[in-house]
Amino acid sequence: MTPKHVYVTRQIPEAGLLLLKKQGLKITVNHKNQAVTRAELIRSIKNKDGLLCLLGDKIDQEIIEAGNKLKIIANYAVGYDNINVPAATKKGIMVTNTPGVLTDATAELVWSLIYACARRIPEADRFVRSRKFESWGPKLLLGTDIHHKTLGIIGAGRIGQTVGRKAAGLDMKILYTNPHRRPGFERRTKARRVSLKTLLKKSDFVTLHLPLTPKTRHLIKQPELRLMKRTAYLINTARGPIVDEKALTRALKEKIISGTGLDVYEREPKIEAGLLKLENVVCLPHIGSATTETRTKMAVMAARNLIVALKGKRPPNLVNPDCRPACRPAGRVSTRANV
Ligand code: GLV
Ligand code: GLV
Repeated sequence: MTPKHVYVTRQIPEAGLLLLKKQGLKITVNHKNQAVTRAELIRSIKNKDGLLCLLGDKIDQEIIEAGNKLKIIANYAVGYDNINVPAATKKGIMVTNTPGVLTDATAELVWSLIYACARRIPEADRFVRSRKFESWGPKLLLGTDIHHKTLGIIGAGRIGQTVGRKAAGLDMKILYTNPHRRPGFERRTKARRVSLKTLLKKSDFVTLHLPLTPKTRHLIKQPELRLMKRTAYLINTARGPIVDEKALTRALKEKIISGTGLDVYEREPKIEAGLLKLENVVCLPHIGSATTETRTKMAVMAARNLIVALKGKRPPNLVNPDCRPACRPAGRVSTRANV
């Protein structure tokens, strides 16, 4: 039997590639230290049984059509808005993601951004490096307290709730929005579920934890920003297009809000020109899950999804169960035993 052939769009941590190799799969990896071009992806996906791709790879209808033998698209990310899932489902192609393993790392980055914004850390670092630190000053680089303030979590899923739990010890008040109540989270953190409007009006730090869908696109635009306190900060580690970046840039310039901490952008990797000129913006290059431990776990998880799917079974992190009957009835599949 000819071995199944998998295309990996970028070098992922070795543990994942090793798992694929151990299964006797044929692997083609994009070895360049940059994203695959569209043309390259279309060329490379032909005759491949599996695709392991990144959140920056746009897997649309045309790419899916080009994957004439494709059975599985394993996304190396928890978010999968980069994939046209209905188009994959229609062709019986399984789509998987990497939930859970990156929750804590992402929540830690949220807290890094909250601290970085509140205490103006990057600005202070720039200040010292440019040799401006000449004497201690009572009013030098004043920030704002975090303790005893209100944290507003928009979307209390895995990551949102973890961000809230990590507030323990700061005596913060926690507000959240979510389609339904989270009683366990409320008990643990004394968080209160409120409307989006109330959350925006009352929070000192607003953090976004929603998937990008047609409903969440531009959820935060000018009117929402105007509801926020002038002293408040907006943190986005979810997906860029949830925020209208032009409106955000304007709001920051006009001091409608105090500052922002961003890990994601509306037209990633492009960034709204005016944004980078502002001091009250902390910008990161989409590194929410970027720790060695977490990225290794993601690689293993994506590889396992791929391996199980190529055995014709239901992978553990299938996001489109409707794609069957292309995969056998669910049943319990031990992924451990399979790799
Ligand atoms: C990162 O943004 C992810 O979705 O994993
Ligand atoms: C600051 O360094 C202080 O001692 O107050």
